Amino acid sequence: MNREWWKEAVVYQIYPKSFQDADGDGMGDIRGIIQRLPYLQQLGVTVVWICPVYKSPMDDGGYDISDYYSVDPMFGSNEDLDELIVQADALGIKIIMDLVINHTSDEHEWFQQALKDPNSKYRDYYIFREGVDGQPPNNWRSYFGNSAWEKVENEDNMYYLHAFTKKQPDLNWENDEVREALYDMVNYWLDKGIGGFRIDAILNIKKRIETKQFEPDGEDGLAFIGHWILNQPGIEVWLKELNDRTFKPHNSMTVAEANVPDERLSEYIGNDGFFSMVFDFSYTDIDVPITGEWFKFSNWTLSDLKKHMYRHQLVSQEKGWGALYLENHDQPRSINKYVPEQDIHDYSKKMLATLFMMMQGTPFIYQGQEIGMTNTQMDSMDDYDDIATHDQYQRALLAGLSEDEAFAATNRRSRDNSRTPMQWDTSKNAGFSTSDKTWMKVNRNYDQINVASQQHEASVLHYYKQLIALRREGKYSETIVYGAFLPAETDREELFVYQRVLGDRKLLIVINFSNQDRSYPVDREFHNVVLSNYAEIGLNAQHELNLKPYASVILSND
Ligand code: NOJ
Repeated sequence: MNREWWKEAVVYQIYPKSFQDADGDGMGDIRGIIQRLPYLQQLGVTVVWICPVYKSPMDDGGYDISDYYSVDPMFGSNEDLDELIVQADALGIKIIMDLVINHTSDEHEWFQQALKDPNSKYRDYYIFREGVDGQPPNNWRSYFGNSAWEKVENEDNMYYLHAFTKKQPDLNWENDEVREALYDMVNYWLDKGIGGFRIDAILNIKKRIETKQFEPDGEDGLAFIGHWILNQPGIEVWLKELNDRTFKPHNSMTVAEANVPDERLSEYIGNDGFFSMVFDFSYTDIDVPITGEWFKFSNWTLSDLKKHMYRHQLVSQEKGWGALYLENHDQPRSINKYVPEQDIHDYSKKMLATLFMMMQGTPFIYQGQEIGMTNTQMDSMDDYDDIATHDQYQRALLAGLSEDEAFAATNRRSRDNSRTPMQWDTSKNAGFSTSDKTWMKVNRNYDQINVASQQHEASVLHYYKQLIALRREGKYSETIVYGAFLPAETDREELFVYQRVLGDRKLLIVINFSNQDRSYPVDREFHNVVLSNYAEIGLNAQHELNLKPYASVILSND
C-alpha cells in the first residue's frame, strides 16, 4: 500500500462558531482557535479541519459563502487565518479548510449581478429556468424542505435552483468560466500552505434537470431532489479536472462529503482517484431514512451497524482509503445515537472511541467528542439556530406529528446538538466565552463534562489521547495505520471483533456493545493487552475474555 502523509494523520474537526471565543462577543473565532492550539497539540492531532470561516450571511452556518477570498469579520481577519496556518504548522498541525463549491450565498457578487441584469454573463453562473403555468419548473424538494426552485423577484415566470436553502443558489458547473473561477480560488488557498480541503456537497454539482412533475414522495407533493442531482453521469469529468488542476499538484489531503456507491468507489478514492478519501454515511445516518426525515426512525440494529461499518472497511481498503468518523457538525452526538440513554457513561464512550479509532482509515474527531460531549436539551424551537432543524420540525408537523412529538424528533437529530459551545471548564459559559450571551446555549451538563475536569488518567479525554498516541507512534503505529482490516465472525450481534494485521504483527480488537457481561474466546497468540477501557481485564485459563458492559479491549500477539 502506498504511504501518504494523510493516511497517517489524525484529524480534529472544529466548528469555529462554537470552539473558543477570544474577543468576548459570544461567538467563536480564529484567534480562539489559535489560543487552543496547545490543547490540540497535546491531544496529538496532526490535522485540523475548520468548518467555513469565509464571508457569509450565515443562513446555513457559513455553508453559504458570499466571498470566497475573505474571512468573515465575525471570525476575525484574513491575517488571523494566515497566522493560524503558520502557528499550527509550527506545532506540526496542518489546517484543512472547507470547500463549498456546489453553491454560493445569494449575497455573493456573482448572484447579485445575475439578478440585477438577466443579460449579464453571471446569469449563466447559476441555474435559472422558466416556470410552467405559474409553477416552478418541477416539483423537486430541496434537501432542507420546500421547493428547490425560488421565484426571481420582479421577473415573470423565472426561477433559480437551490438544492439547499433558498439563500444557497446552485452554481452552474456546465459553464467553463465558473469552473475556472473556482479552481483559481482553490489554488489561492492551497498556495497559502493549507493541507487541503474537506469538500462540501460535491456529488451534487452535475444536474439532470427536467421540466415536469415527478411522483411525489411526501405530504408536501414534492420529490427528493437527490435522485436527479447526486452523482449524475458526467460528474467524473469535472471531478478529475478539479483534482488535476488543484489538489494533485499540491499533494493535498482531500476528504469529500460523498456517499459514493461501492462500484464507483475506485474512481473516487483509488490510487489516481479524485479525492484522498470520502465520508461514508451508511453508519452515521443509520437512524434516518435515505430521504432524510428525522422524524422517521429507522429501527436499526447492532447487526446493521456492524454490517455497515465492516462493509465500509472492506470496500475502502480494497479500493483505496477511508475516512473514519462518528460525529460532525451535521450529526447529533454519537453517544446519544448509538447507545441507549441509561447506558451513557465513560465506558460506553471509550468503547465507541476504540471501535472507530482502531479501524483502517484516517480518523476524524469532532470537537467535544474527545471529552464525551452529549446532545443538548433545548427549551423550545426558538433555541435552535440551525435552518435544517426548523425545516425538519415543519415537515414533522406536516406529516401529522403533534408539536411535542415533532419537537422530540427534532431534538434527537438536530444538528445543533453538536454545535453547542465547546466545554472547556466549569467557569462562565464553560470557558467558551466571557460574553453574557453566547450565540447558542451552552449544554447544561458542562459542569460535569469539560476538558478541565478530565485531566486525569481515567478520563475519556485521556483515553482518546492514548488511542491517538498508539496510532501515531510506538510499535503498533504502522499496524494501526496500514494494517489490513479483518472482521471476525461472532455468535452475538453485540460483539464487534476485528483484527488489524501487518506482516507478523496482529492486533485483536474486541468490543462488547451491550450492557451485559459477555465472554469471547481468544486465540492464545493474543497474549498482550495493549489498551482497555476497564482497568481489570478478565482473561481466564481457557483464554476467554470476560467482557464487562461496553468493554473494549485491544490485544496484540507481541
Ligand atoms: C453539508 C454541510 O456539512 C452542511 O452543514 C451544509 O448544510 C450542506 N452541506 C450545504 O452546504
